Amino acid sequence: MQPNNAQITVQGKTIELPIRKGTIGPDIIDIASLYKKTGTFTYDPGFTSTASCESRITYIDGNQGILLYCGYPIDDLAEHGDFLETCYLLLFGSLPNRANKKEFDHLVQQHHMVDEQFSRFFQGFRRDSHPMAVMVACLGAMSAFYHDSIDITDPQQRNIASIRLIAKIPTLAAMAYKYSISQPFIYPLNTLHYTENFLRMCFAVPCETYSINPIIARAIDRIFILHADHEQNASTSTVRLAGSSGANPFACIAAGVACLWGPAHGGANEACLKMLEEIGSVQRIPEFINRAKNKKDPFRLMGFGHRVYKNYDPRAKIMQKTCHEVLKELDLKDDPLLKIAVELEDIALHDEYFIEKKLYPNVDFYSGITLKALGFPTSMFTVLFALARSVGWVAQWKEMIEDPAQKIGRPRQLYTGPSKRNYIQIQKRP
Ligand code: SDX
Repeated sequence: MQPNNAQITVQGKTIELPIRKGTIGPDIIDIASLYKKTGTFTYDPGFTSTASCESRITYIDGNQGILLYCGYPIDDLAEHGDFLETCYLLLFGSLPNRANKKEFDHLVQQHHMVDEQFSRFFQGFRRDSHPMAVMVACLGAMSAFYHDSIDITDPQQRNIASIRLIAKIPTLAAMAYKYSISQPFIYPLNTLHYTENFLRMCFAVPCETYSINPIIARAIDRIFILHADHEQNASTSTVRLAGSSGANPFACIAAGVACLWGPAHGGANEACLKMLEEIGSVQRIPEFINRAKNKKDPFRLMGFGHRVYKNYDPRAKIMQKTCHEVLKELDLKDDPLLKIAVELEDIALHDEYFIEKKLYPNVDFYSGITLKALGFPTSMFTVLFALARSVGWVAQWKEMIEDPAQKIGRPRQLYTGPSKRNYIQIQKRP
């Protein structure tokens, strides 16, 4: 047997399958030839042991609680860089030098405005539409407005579409928020940095001057960095699968937004805040901890647990620090929800159930409290997650499209339905 091969015996037939090593992290067994050689499929519906692709973008070590963007620890990027630097890194694989950074920031700034017809597009929605529903629609609609950058075979068009997505999603997100509170849309101001621009488009009104709080702007920018990419999570896998058919990038990112909306994924920050509000007081925490442990109760502790992290999510620690900074800056350090969150975290981390199942706070646990303190309604929390994750989706989509070995994703199944049976005409049925 070759040293770098795995051996598997199926119905008495033994075959060898190549083992491939990555730079860091678990090896993989390449099973592409398994069906051809044995007539059997593998089965792993939640992808708990399955690598769906090769990527050079993000690495997670779930046991050590490590997250690297193109090799750079998330702590360093969040501490020293800004979101557009992370965007450049994820798109091009290396940190920008000063000239690149200046040019990239300027390029993104030139694309913040959306087609003026989008303001008419919004008129079709009810004012109380969930902003995530609006974002799914707007992202899909971008392929109707920007059809001069949907030819995925043209590198120039792929790059323009990538920049348009990163630059216009904050504008659309701010428009979704303004529309939901019946306030006029605020146009982007290209003299402002990306995140300052977003805050102004959300919170400025035409009748007053708006001043940016630099501590708040820095906090939001850091939150965007934390959420920018995360390996092959559910929404990124959705974007890759949609893109594998050759669908245009805007449609693929719309699919990613739709998937992110689920409470088990990006919707958890909204669900976590609602959970903290439902708990309502420190005294009721044990009741909810018991519900989370009760197999008969579908309740789960939102913001806790992760498919990959079986240690503290490194983003949660930075999120917790940011949360305290924001609440202090806004003189909300006595926020009752924060008190409940801190107490809930402490109790859960010392509870046998959570320890045994390696359930730790994830990125969503503190983000909801922070975003609420910043003035965003709960319904906007996942929109902000989608805004930040859009660069990760775009980078992963681009990597897949530019992979010469790329082919359409088409999983198989274990069929447990009825075998072939005879059709009986309706007249002959009882
Ligand atoms: C994100 O994949 C990513 O990278 C996602 C993300 C990203 O950046 O893209 O990190 C963002 O989605 C973070 C996760 C946000 N979701 C939540 O906070 C929702 C609450 N968490 C759970 O729903 C759950 O932990 C998941 C969905 C996050 C992970 O679920 P898994 O990996 O499928 O694990 P599992 O459901 O098999 O749970 C293992 C055990 C189970 O008990 P047993 O059946 O073994 O007895 O742990 C239990 C679960 O019941 N469990 C929990 C729990 N999470 C798991 N019990 C109580 N509360 C929880 N939160």
